[in-house]
Amino acid sequence: MRTAACETVLVTGGTGRIGAPLVRALLARGDTVAVLTRDPGRATTIPGARLVKGTLFDPAALADALTGVTVVYHLAGGVRGAGIDTADRLNREGTEALLAGVRAAQLAPKAPPLRAFVYASSCAVYGDRSGLWVAEDYPPSPHTTYGAAKVAAEAAVTAAGIPARIARIAAVYGPGFNFLLADKMRENKAWLPGEGRNIVPVVHVDDCVAALLRIGDSDASGVFHVAGRTAPTLREFYTSVHAASGGAPVRFWSTWIPSALQLAVARANERIVAGLGRRPRFTEDNLRLYTASVRLRTERLEKELGFRWAFGDHKDGVRAAVEQAGDRAA
Ligand SMILES: NC(=O)c1ccc[n+]([C@@H]2O[C@H](COP(=O)([O-])OP(=O)(O)OC[C@H]3O[C@@H](n4cnc5c(N)ncnc54)[C@H](OP(=O)(O)O)[C@@H]3O)[C@@H](O)[C@H]2O)c1
Repeated sequence: MRTAACETVLVTGGTGRIGAPLVRALLARGDTVAVLTRDPGRATTIPGARLVKGTLFDPAALADALTGVTVVYHLAGGVRGAGIDTADRLNREGTEALLAGVRAAQLAPKAPPLRAFVYASSCAVYGDRSGLWVAEDYPPSPHTTYGAAKVAAEAAVTAAGIPARIARIAAVYGPGFNFLLADKMRENKAWLPGEGRNIVPVVHVDDCVAALLRIGDSDASGVFHVAGRTAPTLREFYTSVHAASGGAPVRFWSTWIPSALQLAVARANERIVAGLGRRPRFTEDNLRLYTASVRLRTERLEKELGFRWAFGDHKDGVRAAVEQAGDRAA
């Protein structure tokens, strides 16, 4: 349980879409925050953070970033990175490298004990469950390389002998998130795979950040779902975005582009774009993630940690996200 007024915190992925607002929230309450980043020059949205240049695979940078730290939020990761940064390298190997850094830092003379290590995992660990409601003890069965890498990373965190908490996060939306698609709708370019009848757990970034803080502040252990209060179908979610943003509604592919063709093109695209050292966005994993169906129970977050959502449902959250995105662009 957080007892100190101020703590020293490391946020990996602190320049990212979830990480940056998390860092700003930690700084706003007086914490000292280190952020590991490959490019400190781009980290302009988190003034006040101590920027440490490096990657998860750089032991010297990790030693620097972990100095004096009592809380770690490990967010660096994603569906995949650029070039050789596959889902497995970024999420599993990256987490194992960070854990080695944490072990080394804990052995340093006068190192304070680690109070909490919060890992940003994903609802992708469940694969496609045909819309089933799942609680945190439901066995993972990923159907993507991303989901499998998150399962392996979770196992490494759990086995590390540290005060670990795993946050399995729903699809996050908010200003700056591609998932919102509001700009694409306004440009009449919003397309998605599948038919949109699948149920996607979603969460507004403000609720996601508040939940991560609540998890980090607690002394609970184990897995927590971080999701909004409603689980809409993909079509329902984007109907809300369209109502708030205007433009043209999302068009879904699968009724007229065969799934096998979509998968073949996605595989070829990933190979070619990654071969050029860039980050492919149209991949087999992305196709599978956009068409998977699962509902996350959130009683642990609500009842054990007393979490209260800022947004009652995805319609409120989407309206706010579109407004926030407009404010940011203005
Ligand atoms: N967004 C979602 O909907 C969602 C849903 C469920 C779970 N998650 C998980 O939540 C975490 C954060 O997601 P996000 O959407 O905020 O990510 P994001 O915006 O794509 O940012 C990724 C972050 O990872 C860092 N990073 C990437 N490769 C790195 C490396 N090799 N070494 C060190 N840092 C590295 C980046 O830092 P620099 O570029 O500054 O180096 C960046 O801050 C991820 O682990 C993701 O899997 C996200």
